[in-house]
Amino acid sequence: MNVISAAVWVLENNCMFVYTALIVCFSIFTVLHKKNMEQRFARSVQRKILRNYSGGKEREFPDDEGDDPDNLVPAIPEDTPHIPYKPLRRTDNEVIDRSREYYELMASRRTVRAFSPEPIPSGVLENIIKTAGTSPSGAHTEPWTYVVVENQEVKEAIRTIVEEEEELNYCKRMSRQWVTDLRPFATKPVKPYLSEAPALLLVFRQTYSWRSDGKKRMHYYSEISVAIAAGILLAAIQYCGLVALTSTPLNCNARLRQLLSRPSNERLELLLPVGRPHEDTKVPDIVRKPLDEIMVKI
Ligand SMILES: Cc1cc2nc3c(=O)[nH]c(=O)nc-3n(C[C@H](O)[C@H](O)[C@H](O)COP(=O)(O)O)c2cc1C
Repeated sequence: MNVISAAVWVLENNCMFVYTALIVCFSIFTVLHKKNMEQRFARSVQRKILRNYSGGKEREFPDDEGDDPDNLVPAIPEDTPHIPYKPLRRTDNEVIDRSREYYELMASRRTVRAFSPEPIPSGVLENIIKTAGTSPSGAHTEPWTYVVVENQEVKEAIRTIVEEEEELNYCKRMSRQWVTDLRPFATKPVKPYLSEAPALLLVFRQTYSWRSDGKKRMHYYSEISVAIAAGILLAAIQYCGLVALTSTPLNCNARLRQLLSRPSNERLELLLPVGRPHEDTKVPDIVRKPLDEIMVKI
């Protein structure tokens, strides 16, 4: 009797036992994989919903390498509650008055290039930065770091770096037209305000960060998020009665990042001397575009 005949003989004579064993194995397999199958089903439904959201098209924004697309977890908790939001309701007249008052306040803001060395009262910079921190940001990524420098030695070191780079900017990195366009503002490579202003506020943009689970957190729209936050920062400075100089020091990112020990995911976007204006401060008598040039009503 060969092996196949022997197997057939065993099956024929023990069919009840073989069928029972097969049914038991199948039941155990089904129970063990039930949860797995349910999870797979839920994910396939989720994928279907996502596909429908994107009109059934392939995703244009690339997934991160190493990401399991079936196992993605949001950066903030999925079950973040949605709570009622009822800001104070103002009357129409209040809305009209406040819109005009705020316009008048902001219209009096000017970029100042000469500062009084008077110190800024304690707690003010903290409030200003807290205000900037209320800014909206892409997927609530809050891609900003504000470095406040009040230490005189560090201010001098920043000035040295900026002046060295500005010398090169003005004589070879910037176009002749650019340098010419700056002439009416009397900006020069020498920048005494960097050591004279009581505080320097450096705005860094985080291009990404790290989540608590160790995964890289993407910062979508970090440029516009930081730009909006910088606007809110400038408005807060204006509202409390201080002044600032909005500056974007060209080619200083690497050296200032190193001086201030900022990590490699941060990029310097703005350097703002902040304080009170020098008593002899003068500003260029510029004209702003009228409403009909900046607003299109449809
Ligand atoms: C993005 C940006 C970069 C700027 N960079 C400089 C700068 O490097 N140096 C400077 O003196 N002013 C700088 N300014 C200030 C502008 O020259 C100033 O805002 C403009 O002339 C209008 O004047 P106002 O701010 O008084 O309304 C900058 C402003 C912005 C918004």
